[in-house]
Amino acid sequence: MSNVHVSPHPLVAHKLSLLRQASTEPKKFRQLIKELAALLVYEATLDLATEPVEIETPIMRTTAYRLQEKIGLVPILRAGLGMVEGIWELMPSAEVWHIGLYRDERTLKPVEYYNKLPTEPTVSVCLILDPMLATGGSAVATVDILKRWGAKKIKFVGLIAAPEGIQAMQSAHPDVPIYVAHIDERLNEHGYIVPGLGDAGDRQFGTA
Ligand code: URA
Repeated sequence: MSNVHVSPHPLVAHKLSLLRQASTEPKKFRQLIKELAALLVYEATLDLATEPVEIETPIMRTTAYRLQEKIGLVPILRAGLGMVEGIWELMPSAEVWHIGLYRDERTLKPVEYYNKLPTEPTVSVCLILDPMLATGGSAVATVDILKRWGAKKIKFVGLIAAPEGIQAMQSAHPDVPIYVAHIDERLNEHGYIVPGLGDAGDRQFGTA
């Protein structure tokens, strides 16, 4: 599991425990998703390349460093949407590309229903955002789409992963690192992560 990164940060653990609680209302749930996404992306972007730039401080001229890489956020609709806002606060110039996949309730396989990626990649790093890495079907399908598009550097950022989802990603795309707040026990017979937090989309959008 060398490319699976589970956040060691106490703030992440604290916020995740609030997020999991069934009594957490949608407004608070959305706020926590936003904050957790920012904390996890901080960890997922530690290796971004920078380039030197000459600047003037009020005191003198000096060399500083700015980001060299263009970042694309790829939230998996709809649960991934809530993660974008928190990350945008840290990286306001990140491009956001939407890929819509829904999980067929019978087969539990992802079905693509929306994809507006331009013909050529416009970013150097793609961060796939989905709070729940459950069967891994949507994440694997999204990486397939991004690789076909020509994306070279892809990372997955989620909140909770099931071992089954990690296994699926690692066998299909061992080159894609996974950043999560926690790895839970397993999936149940309905494809939900146990103990998990329920349906991350419903809980954000108040449709539970
Ligand atoms: N999607 C969710 O929102 N929750 C799960 O537990 C699994 C998939």
